[in-house]
Amino acid sequence: MSEQPRASFGGKLSVILVAAGSAIGLGALWRFPYVAGENGGAAFLLVFLLSVLVVGIPAMLAEFAVGRHTKKNAVGAFRALSKRWSWLGYSGILGALLISGYYYLIAGWSLEYLLNSVTGGIFDSTLSFKEQFSEFQGSWKPLAWGVAFILITHFIVSRGVEKGIEKASKVMMPMLFVILVIMAVRVAFMPGASEGYKFFLSCDFEKAFSADTIMMAMGQAFFSLSVGMGCMVTYASYFKKSNNIISTSFNVSILTLLVSVLAGLVIFPAVYSAGLEPTEGPSLVFVTLPEIFKGMPLASLWSAIFFLLVVLASLTSTISFHEVLTAYFGEEFKLSRKNAAIVTTVVSIVLSAVTFTQLFGIDFFTVFDYITANMLMPLGGMFTCIFVVWFMKKNFMKDELTNKGVCNRYLAPVVIFMLRYVTPLIILYIFIKNFL
Ligand code: PHE
Repeated sequence: MSEQPRASFGGKLSVILVAAGSAIGLGALWRFPYVAGENGGAAFLLVFLLSVLVVGIPAMLAEFAVGRHTKKNAVGAFRALSKRWSWLGYSGILGALLISGYYYLIAGWSLEYLLNSVTGGIFDSTLSFKEQFSEFQGSWKPLAWGVAFILITHFIVSRGVEKGIEKASKVMMPMLFVILVIMAVRVAFMPGASEGYKFFLSCDFEKAFSADTIMMAMGQAFFSLSVGMGCMVTYASYFKKSNNIISTSFNVSILTLLVSVLAGLVIFPAVYSAGLEPTEGPSLVFVTLPEIFKGMPLASLWSAIFFLLVVLASLTSTISFHEVLTAYFGEEFKLSRKNAAIVTTVVSIVLSAVTFTQLFGIDFFTVFDYITANMLMPLGGMFTCIFVVWFMKKNFMKDELTNKGVCNRYLAPVVIFMLRYVTPLIILYIFIKNFL
């Protein structure tokens, strides 16, 4: 593998769609609504926006720089810049493993719901949607669907960077936007929807700036932008040298925010219209939305469209952390792409099985999610920022941000200032406030 020329993504639009494909996924569509629901709705949205701007974007730029400069997998990239920092790459690999341990399972839920929508089974059942959900959870099906999701991901990743990942994102991302907008418009006409808008759009500042909300919002920003675990390092290793990374990071972040807000605009009015609570937790999307569809003409069709959307969005994300591991196994252990993908797939299946069976009675699902989003990714992001501005040569970040003086001459100093003095300190502060 190392003898072949390294693959790269096509033009500017491809780069944005591929990176946004990684970012936009269950984080925006499933995690954002329930975490926002549990943390005050609008209050959460506000702090989440700030986190993306102040913390997420600078950290993403640091990762882009490391990946594009070295053109290597997460571990190889940090090692190439400084042997003493290769642990940062390994922390990314650990993050990718932990996420693989639960993300596929949830993505699998949406496959089940997609199928049941197509067959209409979900609306024919005599059980309530809540009962249906727990019955499903109690069966072996979630694992089977999780494995199915891993295999679909495997198929795309093993086809390679241009043919697999880039092509898939180009088709799936635009589809996702169209479907989401249609849903948001449809939900606006439901009775009682206005309560949902109120919850999601009118802010309680006291709640917003509590330590808890800030911590969750920062975790959500890292998780949703795929930053802090080597994913953007890996993807940027396929960027061309001429790519304007500042504009890429802005575009990716704006798209992610847009989808998160759209998801909120679909889900909260829907929740209130059905007389449910926004604090339902991880099952929020799966229990409340069918309730809405039920009251609509062509229920199965709407439901199928929505869950297809969730499947597609998840797939462009699973591809990205599968790729983190595949690139790592391939380059570090000199495996062919096919074999590296197989290793990743086998490991992912084992981890999903461990989570699913709750080995030793541990709720790996919550543990993995909490550790990755609230600890590993923010810390990984923080150290990446520190590394690129304090431990690399003085001009490293400047050259990467400006493509050696070609673009962003005025923005680059602002970003570098943030990386030096603002972003890492804020992450550290939030951390200390929460855990000490
Ligand atoms: N950002 C993805 C999502 O929101 C999840 C993800 C995290 C993907 C980390 C890759 C790396 O669904």
